[in-house]
Amino acid sequence: MVYDNIVLIGFMGSGKTSVGRNLARQLFKEFVDVDTMIEEEQGASVSEIFKTKGEAYFRNLEQDCINRLTQKKGQVIATGGGLPIYSSISDKSLIIYINADFDVILNRISKRERDKRPLLQDEDRARTLFNERKDTYKELATFSVDANQKIPVFIHVIRDFILDRRVL
Ligand code: S3P
Repeated sequence: MVYDNIVLIGFMGSGKTSVGRNLARQLFKEFVDVDTMIEEEQGASVSEIFKTKGEAYFRNLEQDCINRLTQKKGQVIATGGGLPIYSSISDKSLIIYINADFDVILNRISKRERDKRPLLQDEDRARTLFNERKDTYKELATFSVDANQKIPVFIHVIRDFILDRRVL
């Protein structure tokens, strides 16, 4: 099967945005980050949207964005960690799960990046969320990559998977 777009999924702070930007450059594709798209369209940060309009409102925005994006082709799309949990993603998408352990994620993320994420503020609750979500990520993925390795290493693994199988 040849897919329309690459969609990166995984828990907050797993590196979807950095991986996506880099992968898009290597594959000569356009890069889009759903959280950034929402923030630009709403003129507000994700934290502000959660605070003023609530999580359910944010989840609707995510579904609307991914619907519009997947009507086009040739993009690498980084999603927010909750998007595949609450929204459906077109089955013409090559879905890649950036599969990192919770403790690796905590070590990888800076305080500044952590402060931007309302659902990552309480470590115990975030760990529970991670455990609740990880099987869903795995089930949805066309390909899961071991993201406990250094980012440039697993970007190569993803790129090789895509080029070897000629899926784009
Ligand atoms: C969320 C993940 C965030 C952002 C929002 C909610 C989640 O994106 O969409 O804070 O529910 O996991 P990142 O995965 O880019 O941190």
